[in-house]
Amino acid sequence: MTAIYVLNGPNLNLLGIREPTVYGNLSLAAIEARLQEKAKAAGVTLTCKQSNHEGDLVTWVQEAGLAGAGVILNAGAYTHTSIALRDAISGAKATLIEVHLSNVHAREEFRHHSTIAPVARGVICGFGALSYELAFDALVAAKA
Ligand code: DQA
Repeated sequence: MTAIYVLNGPNLNLLGIREPTVYGNLSLAAIEARLQEKAKAAGVTLTCKQSNHEGDLVTWVQEAGLAGAGVILNAGAYTHTSIALRDAISGAKATLIEVHLSNVHAREEFRHHSTIAPVARGVICGFGALSYELAFDALVAAKA
């Protein structure tokens, strides 16, 4: 995997401010900076994007999938509702890892269901900012 997109969905622009006891103290920019370091060391081109709008995420998943880039996706609350994102992953044949900072299975029941997980290469949750780094390592190591 020589190109990876890191896509973050709604409210993840507020990391560092938003419920730090659940999501930690690091900003999204700090998480992305750490990943850029790892990417540089691994010779991977990393593209980081965040949007609060479902359609933007759909467009970027399609773009990454069609280009053969891997995807690390934290879709935020869209994880639990978005059929459009699931269809984009399948449609563009994206090799994608679903990530969450929190352990969604230890939280409210509505967070236990993911529309994305069945079409993801894998799911990593519960390790805070480290979830993204584990996903990066997994994508680099995984055979599509
Ligand atoms: C989240 C978990 C989701 O349930 C929630 O809606 C988020 C963040 C996480 O990273 O733990 O926005 O994806």
